[in-house]
Amino acid sequence: MEPGLERWAHGALWAALAGSLALRAARRAPGPGRGLGPPLGRGLVLPLALLAALQSLCRAWLPLPLGLALAAAAAGLLLWRAAPRGLLPVAGRAVLVTGCDSGFGQATARHLDIMGFRVFASVLDLQSPGAQELRQSCSTRLTLLQMDLTKTEDIQRVLQHIQAHTNSTGLWGLVNNAGFNDTIADAELSPLGKFRTCMEVNFFGSLELTKGLLPLLRSAGGRIVTVSSPAGDMPFPCLAAYGASKAALSLVMDTFRSELQPWGIKVSLILPGYYKTGTTCDPAFWNLQKQQLLASLPQELLQAYGEDYVEEINQQFIQFMKVAVEDLSAVVNSITEGLLAANPAVRYYPGQGLGIMYFIHRYLPYFVRDLFLKGFFINPKLPRALRREHHNDVKKA
Ligand SMILES: NC(=O)c1ccc[n+]([C@@H]2O[C@H](COP(=O)([O-])OP(=O)(O)OC[C@H]3O[C@@H](n4cnc5c(N)ncnc54)[C@H](OP(=O)(O)O)[C@@H]3O)[C@@H](O)[C@H]2O)c1
Repeated sequence: MEPGLERWAHGALWAALAGSLALRAARRAPGPGRGLGPPLGRGLVLPLALLAALQSLCRAWLPLPLGLALAAAAAGLLLWRAAPRGLLPVAGRAVLVTGCDSGFGQATARHLDIMGFRVFASVLDLQSPGAQELRQSCSTRLTLLQMDLTKTEDIQRVLQHIQAHTNSTGLWGLVNNAGFNDTIADAELSPLGKFRTCMEVNFFGSLELTKGLLPLLRSAGGRIVTVSSPAGDMPFPCLAAYGASKAALSLVMDTFRSELQPWGIKVSLILPGYYKTGTTCDPAFWNLQKQQLLASLPQELLQAYGEDYVEEINQQFIQFMKVAVEDLSAVVNSITEGLLAANPAVRYYPGQGLGIMYFIHRYLPYFVRDLFLKGFFINPKLPRALRREHHNDVKKA
């Protein structure tokens, strides 16, 4: 085959692809009443690199018509994956977003308010700086509601309020965003109470609220969007209490997704990467948690692991905070799409490095997965009782 013709044909394919992507990027400018499409940016780097590699292979090994057809099919698949999902109009729809004192919840409540939603934003503390900020910056459509997800009476009060105030509009969406974690330590070092607290907030609280709102959501054929975590899918070291509660949350939401299909309710999970929010990246908060953990550990455990082991974990976590992303818009966009896309995705993965992380988790052997998570997140040193110098000390004594 003529090399010039081959170059021209494959070049034309790239030109057509670039043109379509540019057109889509231009069309997705946000504004009141409009949703946001999926991000056309970093998420495309890997697919484009794979397409280029496939195209090189096609050019090297296949006749032009077949190679071109294969590359065009792959480009079509890429475009389909990057296509903005058709978005429904906001038109005064009502949504409840939990955990709006800070972080994703606060940013989402503000964004949905700008879009024209009627927002019920639950906060732990009505006087928190985040609550005050929402009160000042948002429209009168936004209502702040106090709710501690560990307190049934708070949940019931919010349910009654929503029932009483959505007669005319119905409730279109629930965003289960509130979440809690205050423990970074091996599962053996994490007190049982910490597991229970994570479960109470992240799992039971969200479950109780979701079940309470289902009659309203069923009659609207609405949406449930839940912010879970990749820590609920993979065994991140030192995150067992939080990860276990998020695993339970992801599973129950996935079950709702399947069971509520006949009612027309669509359920999406958001699995964000690491972002700078609330106390997640506050070294003072984590130093305090470490001190409290050290003070609470039984002597035998402290001897076996050593205080320096716990110190080291804390230091590594504080180092890890440097990779946290400050711009929360990818998460807010995913939540918005879960609420408004005609066909929302079952899972959204906003954030950096999640593609490679899930690839390793799904396809590589366990020892590679463990090594990756330790290298990426926290790689604890050996516990004191397993160190050579400790054995030498014991022998001398
Ligand atoms: N940031 C990340 O990197 C990341 C990654 C994956 C998943 N997530 C998940 O994203 C969600 C939002 O977290 P975020 O990162 O935005 O952190 P955040 O700023 O700390 O937000 C969590 C929100 O939940 C509230 N909350 C805590 N305990 C509660 C309770 N008992 N009842 C009701 N609300 C409670 C917090 O209130 P206070 O501010 O008053 O404590 C806060 O408003 C959480 O579910 C979290 O697990 C975060």
